[in-house]
Amino acid sequence: MNLKKWVTFAAAAGFAGGAFAQDSNSLSIEGEAMVTETAAPAHMENVSTIYSGWRFRSTETQALETDDFDNPAFVFVEQGMDLWGKVEGAAEKSCASCHEDVADFAGLRTQLPRVDDGQLVAMEDLINECRTERMAAEPWEWSKGNMTAMTALIGLQSRGMPISVATDGEAAPFWEQGKELYYTRVGQLDMACSNCHEDNYGVMIRADHLSQGQINGFPTYRLKNAKLNSIHGRFKGCMKNIRAEPFKEGGPEFKALELYLASRGQGLSVETPSVRN
Ligand code: HEC
Ligand code: HEC
Repeated sequence: MNLKKWVTFAAAAGFAGGAFAQDSNSLSIEGEAMVTETAAPAHMENVSTIYSGWRFRSTETQALETDDFDNPAFVFVEQGMDLWGKVEGAAEKSCASCHEDVADFAGLRTQLPRVDDGQLVAMEDLINECRTERMAAEPWEWSKGNMTAMTALIGLQSRGMPISVATDGEAAPFWEQGKELYYTRVGQLDMACSNCHEDNYGVMIRADHLSQGQINGFPTYRLKNAKLNSIHGRFKGCMKNIRAEPFKEGGPEFKALELYLASRGQGLSVETPSVRN
């Protein structure tokens, strides 16, 4: 399907978004400057400059991210703080029983997903490993509210730091798999992620402005559903929009795709928790 056809389809499917202004090019959050534009990493053959999704949002949406008081995601970060201190499970422990200060996780977001013991692991896996193995508590569902509150709280500790995932060595086969998925056409509309986020970023689709599909701001508060949205939740939404059967959240395909997308954002600042339409 070409983009023109897709625009017609998107209108019929009820795609909606904020108006595009892009008046503002420089983002500073709570006074700290963020990198929202930088040279693309060498492995990206078709793109020379990478941009944070923030650059494609309307002035009003952009403004919500500049200060934590206005950013609606912070209600959920506070929930994450409550969960941090909440005793759960048969071991009768909370996160705080073992991890002295959540600020100790500074830098972690920039390096995930990563390979541990031969497995590609995302932040959600690390959290659930503590819940099941160390707290004897139930794991949290990948994209549910308690998990996104915690990934927002932990991700926030890396805000302003550059994305810097490993793609070589043990990570290489996972990265290759993610790249392959990114360029594979799927679904009834027969489109790949690249058809929109690489070939057509900057294009207006009705009222929505196509970005490069970066993941440096996740979990993201969306005005559309007024909650935090996980990375895999967003992938799922994009696959559904092209009428494809989405992969499983937390499954190997989405984790590989997450690694590949993180590597397309190397050098952009972590903006967690970001605001999008
Ligand atoms: C019984 C002690 C214990 C509890 C309770 C616990 N953790 Fe952990 N956690 C650890 C240990 C030990 C590690 C592995 C060593 C390390 O990286 O600190 C770890 C690792 C992690 C990591 C990966 C850190 C990294 O740099 O790789 C994250 C994220 C994490 N825990 C989050 C949590 C969260 C969130 C909770 C509460 C839901 C929690 N932990 C509860 C002991 C615990
Ligand atoms: C038909 C076009 C289209 C395709 C194909 C598509 N997306 Fe998207 N995607 C969108 C639109 C529209 C948005 C919302 C506006 C934006 O941020 O680009 C979006 C948003 C995103 C975002 C959020 C960006 C941010 O800054 O918050 C990510 C991540 C993303 N897409 C990943 C993917 C992945 C991975 C694939 C392939 C599985 C994919 N998309 C396929 C249209 C598409």
